[in-house]
Amino acid sequence: MFKCRTIFVTLTYKCNVFCEKCATRRSPDCNKSMPQKILNRVIEQIKINNYQNNIALGTGETLLYENLSYFIENILDINEKITIRILTNGKAFKLPLPIIYFDPRVQWIVTMDGFYQSDLDNLQYSQDIEAVKENLKELVKNGYGNNLLFNYTLNAENVKHLLEYVKFAQELNIKKIYVTQLKVFREFEEKLHQYDINVEDSMFKKLIKEVQQFSDKNDLNVFLPDFNRPLKERCWEKGILSPTINYNGNISFCSGREDAVIANISDPDYLNKWQNMLNFLSKSKNSSFWCKQCYNNNSTAKFYSHIKNKV
Ligand SMILES: C[S@@+](CC[C@H](N)C(=O)[O-])C[C@H]1O[C@@H](n2cnc3c(N)ncnc32)[C@H](O)[C@@H]1O
Ligand code: SF4
Repeated sequence: MFKCRTIFVTLTYKCNVFCEKCATRRSPDCNKSMPQKILNRVIEQIKINNYQNNIALGTGETLLYENLSYFIENILDINEKITIRILTNGKAFKLPLPIIYFDPRVQWIVTMDGFYQSDLDNLQYSQDIEAVKENLKELVKNGYGNNLLFNYTLNAENVKHLLEYVKFAQELNIKKIYVTQLKVFREFEEKLHQYDINVEDSMFKKLIKEVQQFSDKNDLNVFLPDFNRPLKERCWEKGILSPTINYNGNISFCSGREDAVIANISDPDYLNKWQNMLNFLSKSKNSSFWCKQCYNNNSTAKFYSHIKNKV
């Protein structure tokens, strides 16, 4: 499981914001965090297996995890190649913060659900979008801009302010801006379907074109969803595996299938169990069944492409 590009580690499910879109908020685990003993086991196994790629943190709001500095310090110490990517909603991303958070190998992806507070109505509660913008300005002013990437969860409403958001990023000299599509989960469809994008809508096309023109003109890397790609591309068939280690040490193949636990990291035999499962899934019939259960395949989301990539 250590031969991969990314390992997802869930340090906490806790969050300081409530998003309608978010599946983890409705999880029975929504207030759980990784105990120190499991945390140490994760660090130990990453070290023993000489893992040299990326660790992604971001199921709840990782900034609320009390042992975050300890985790980052110990992971970066393992070898010089490991990098860490952390997703945040930006609310607690406020200086002063431990200096280790801004090591060159730590990257923060700040997700915004809109550019104005009104964009968040009925979508994201207890968030103050203007305060987040101020936090970001302060971080950049203090020299931490290189650690930041932006992410905008696009929907049919906030697309109207996407260009302003991109201009804000440009002012802060942010090098990469991901525009990711809101996934409307089947079980929340009724509540969220009004935000689902109609890619054929002429107003939508116009707004996206404006963003494309602006980013071309200003040499920006704005990654937009590829609206023409087929809906149900399977990670498995593309050979992308993203091991996920949950707060309680449970390991699964992918984010989206945390329900399907292969083994616990505390189990001395977990690597063998991982390999056996890998062999089982290499038969396409089995892998199809596996992917059919993924919540990513059960949404209306599509994949992404980019306009420019010079970074
Ligand atoms: C679950 S959050 C955890 C990290 C952090 N609390 C945040 O909001 O960035 C991880 C990422 O998933 C995204 N996300 C959650 N639900 C989503 C949905 N239904 N559609 C698209 N993105 C979603 C969030 O916007 C965020 O970028
Ligand atoms: S801020 Fe992140 S973790 Fe919290 S509810 Fe929203 S998407 Fe989920």
